[in-house]
Amino acid sequence: MIPDKAPEDDVFHAAEEMRRGAHVPTFDTFKEMYMQSIEDPDKFWGDMAKDFFWKTKHTGRFLDYNFDTTKGDIFIKCMEGASTNICYNVLDRNVRDRKLGDKVAFYWEGNEPGDELTVTYRELLTSVCRFANVLKSQGVKKGDRVAIYMPMVVELVVAMLACARIGAVHSIVFAGFSAESLCDRIVDSQCSLLITADGFYRGDKLINLKLLADEALQKCTDKGFSLERCIVLKHLSKEAQEISLKSPPAKRPCPDLQNPSLPLHGHACCFSFVQQETETGRVRKTRPVPQVPWNPQVDKCWHALMADSSDECEPEWCASEDPLFILYTSGSTGKPKGVLHTVSGYMLYTAATFKLVFDHRPDDIYWCTADIGWITGHSYITYGPLANGATSVLFEGLPTYPDVSRIWEIVDKYHVSKFYTAPTAIRMLMKYGSEPVQKYKRDSLKVLGTVGEPINPEAWHWYFTVVGDGRCPIVDTFWQTETGGHVMTPLPAATPMKPGSATFPFFGVVPAILNESGEELEGTSEGYLVFKQPWPGVMRTVFGNHARFESTYFKKFPGYYVTGDGCRRDKDGYYWITGRIDDMLNVSGHLLSTAEVESALVGHEAVAEAAVVGRPHPVKGESLYCFVTLRDGVNYNRTLEAQLKKQVREKIGAIATPDFIQDAPALPKTRSGKIMRRVLRKIAGGERDLGDISTLADSSVVEQLFHNRCGAGE
Ligand code: PRX
Repeated sequence: MIPDKAPEDDVFHAAEEMRRGAHVPTFDTFKEMYMQSIEDPDKFWGDMAKDFFWKTKHTGRFLDYNFDTTKGDIFIKCMEGASTNICYNVLDRNVRDRKLGDKVAFYWEGNEPGDELTVTYRELLTSVCRFANVLKSQGVKKGDRVAIYMPMVVELVVAMLACARIGAVHSIVFAGFSAESLCDRIVDSQCSLLITADGFYRGDKLINLKLLADEALQKCTDKGFSLERCIVLKHLSKEAQEISLKSPPAKRPCPDLQNPSLPLHGHACCFSFVQQETETGRVRKTRPVPQVPWNPQVDKCWHALMADSSDECEPEWCASEDPLFILYTSGSTGKPKGVLHTVSGYMLYTAATFKLVFDHRPDDIYWCTADIGWITGHSYITYGPLANGATSVLFEGLPTYPDVSRIWEIVDKYHVSKFYTAPTAIRMLMKYGSEPVQKYKRDSLKVLGTVGEPINPEAWHWYFTVVGDGRCPIVDTFWQTETGGHVMTPLPAATPMKPGSATFPFFGVVPAILNESGEELEGTSEGYLVFKQPWPGVMRTVFGNHARFESTYFKKFPGYYVTGDGCRRDKDGYYWITGRIDDMLNVSGHLLSTAEVESALVGHEAVAEAAVVGRPHPVKGESLYCFVTLRDGVNYNRTLEAQLKKQVREKIGAIATPDFIQDAPALPKTRSGKIMRRVLRKIAGGERDLGDISTLADSSVVEQLFHNRCGAGE
């Protein structure tokens, strides 16, 4: 399927039809606009800002900053003096000024086919106002941090926008993270309230989220931090869902709390989910009854609170640089960093990137398959699309449930025109061939997007030819939790694409490639990818630890923001991201810190030392390969292996479950005692050519490790 030429020479142009009416129709227009964005950012962003509502206008420069640690503290300020509210801009402005109240904001598609809900902008606004009042009634004030640990339901969007409406700072924790990870994040950002749900299904698997949330709160207490309020959405109770989203809600207390058969202090709040007939006549499976522990002192029922709440809530006008949210991302030292984004810059940047990178048109149906628990969901499910008045699909389920055609079935069901997913999902679906895709028409598709890791040319070609029938440009968007939005990306009508290249910078972004000594490389080159100046959506700090922000991103090369990624520039000036150059792994598009996994492993009493490396994986990109040295007298066996995997899952979450664990009686170290990860990576990948190993203290270790390699046949 791949043409017989180097990816560098494999150039694709968008069809003429794509250019018609496009926001950026040609490469020349792109270049012109790009120059303007760099030479006169005040004008460029000032024009973009005109679409939004500002309670007060900004004074002074559009962006003010210092990227050079030798000249003082690092700071980035955007639109100082302005005040606004992002929730007002993504909802009220659309409903009132743009008359989009009846437009669908979300088509929610549940895990189970047939489980669905349509929510308009007006309905969303009403629910958000109501929930904003709920938050206030629970004592949440501007600046307070609110932890959100929820499945992919509309109420998750409601919760985050309600926080934004009252100026509270949301800190969303992906619902696949463990209780321990949730606890660490709650404590680090000192959250005063937690919003969660009873549970949810991922495919056939029931995730009892409330149990995990309770465990996390117990761990917080054990660490001396007490969070005393928890709002629980009854997601698995259909009746409760209808109460919450359609207005006006029936005024009734939480059904569970009313049920006299429930012990008031045994805290069991159970409700059954039994066989139901859906509107399409399909009969849902009988699902097990989740047991929901309930502590009336702490737990409040979402639906009961909503029923008592008014749907009018004046937004809190926030200064441009007021915090909007914290989102944790892996850090190379092992402790996750609370990336902080602020109101105005993030709003403008996610809105502008969404509009231009997906070439958004009013009649589009857009679908991003990410989870809102990650930055992709924050920027390109919630804020960017809503700021543009877009209609999106919000999907709770899995691409493989109930079968591997689910994604394409949904594309046809809602006539999705812009589709955004991750290379790992493409590679996984590719394994099943083209038949499950071609069963569906997909003729509504216009633009395809990818994010999360470099896309290999095979996957790119399959996505382009099989999924997009050779019609749809692919936008390979490179960005990070820290960048807030796309920073290197093609624009679908304008940029000639090369499979595997994120092509060129977005407006306002100035990349450079540096060598080890920090010199900027010109022309064809390879080195560290850095940025020379800020764009409105870049992070402002690591919450509670500005020193860590400066040392992680600005210390290595003063004057530059360092991405941590390697990059190559080809003869035509295209940028090719080559992957992380720090101790981070990218597993299925999720960044994991090797140090964090190692620390989870050595937390087990049997383990004396651990070293974790990435091993190439055909679907996940990288898999986790762990070397463990056991304490004296402990023997390695299957039971211990299972315990170690469980240990990592419980400490971090299922995404970090080791793929391979190898018993390593000793690890290859330099004479000064440093573990040679480079050598371990080669062993894990079965590569015999180890390069220079003259600094190795004991080379017999390597042979022994090669001999006992895991998964040698794979
Ligand atoms: O290594 C890059 C990779 O993902 C990292 C950022 O991860 P995270 O903060 O979790 O955000 C992921 C979603 C934005 C980057 O440092 N990455 C992301 N997109 C691409 C990519 N690598 C290559 N090409 C991409 N399109």
